[in-house]
Amino acid sequence: MKILALETSADDTAAAVVAVDARGFGRILGQALYTQAAEHQKYGGIVPELASRAHQAHLPALTTRALQQVNLTLAEVDAIAATTGPGLTTALAMGASFGKTLALSLSKPFLATNHIEGHALSPLLAKDHALAEAFLLRHEPYLLLLVTGGHTQLLLVRQVGDYQLLGTTADDAVGECFDKAGALLQLPHPAGPKIESLAAQGNPHALHFPHPRTAGPLDFSFSGLKTAVRQAIERGGHPPADIAASLQHTAAQLLAEKLRLALQQTQAKHAVVAGGVAANQTIRTALQQVCVAAGASFTAPPLALCTDNAAMIAYTAGLRHQAGLPDGGGLAAPLHPRWPL
Ligand code: KG4
Ligand code: ZN
Repeated sequence: MKILALETSADDTAAAVVAVDARGFGRILGQALYTQAAEHQKYGGIVPELASRAHQAHLPALTTRALQQVNLTLAEVDAIAATTGPGLTTALAMGASFGKTLALSLSKPFLATNHIEGHALSPLLAKDHALAEAFLLRHEPYLLLLVTGGHTQLLLVRQVGDYQLLGTTADDAVGECFDKAGALLQLPHPAGPKIESLAAQGNPHALHFPHPRTAGPLDFSFSGLKTAVRQAIERGGHPPADIAASLQHTAAQLLAEKLRLALQQTQAKHAVVAGGVAANQTIRTALQQVCVAAGASFTAPPLALCTDNAAMIAYTAGLRHQAGLPDGGGLAAPLHPRWPL
């Protein structure tokens, strides 16, 4: 089946068409994305009203572009999907109402889709099919470490629709920690990539940042790390590159240690990292080392797949539809600003 999906949960406006075959393998047919990052940059974070205005303005053209890439008309699509949570309500509303309107006027099913579920299944869309074969054909679960500006979660993906949340952050997400620490270092938002390049010139062992205590062994906490960075800046005497390198090193160690414990606890044979923070090479390397030591495969999907995109929403909606799972309410689907898996 072919699914057209819209993603408008935060500051990326995206449309994509994905084909899902009978075994569950997905293929991206067309996709178009508009990143609003520059519009929000001067405010130091996402401004919901600006985000929803931009979603509204860009959705029609992006949808047309995604369809044109495969010479498809709306009539040839089997279902319409949109992210209905979690995310900013006014932002979600744009994709959901646009999608519902299309579905209603075309008499096609509307599939209300969870953004986190999209991230969880997105690695299966990677061109290298090794993980998809293990999961779809051999029914082997995988561990997902989702690291974005809004989430830091460890999930066990058992099968489509069956996820176990193993750990989450008690306070800041890891990307948020990079962004807030970056703001303290007077780097523009989002600061993650700038911290990585600054860190390349610094000493990762210059400062010793403490590892936090967490509620559960697989939970995270990153607000202490941000505070430690602030205190180091206030104390003075450390070049910004050393602070950035030490922050990055500590974050990588914290994430890798949780992944190690999760692999041990679940005995999962595969681990995947997704989300914008997965772009960080130091973090990737630390996670990879843990997987090698545990004898598990490690996948870091291409960045375009692991940051916000509509292909993951189309694919998730298609997989769920094929598995006969609920459609999130169809045309009557509510928005869920908070929607745990
Ligand atoms: O997944 P994403 O694009 O958007 C959402 O948050 O949903 O993730 C963005 C986050 C930001 O916090 C950004 O600073 C962080 O990912 N990030 C990085 C790097 N590239 C992006 N953090 C550390 N190192 C990077 N290279
Ligand atoms: Zn996301």
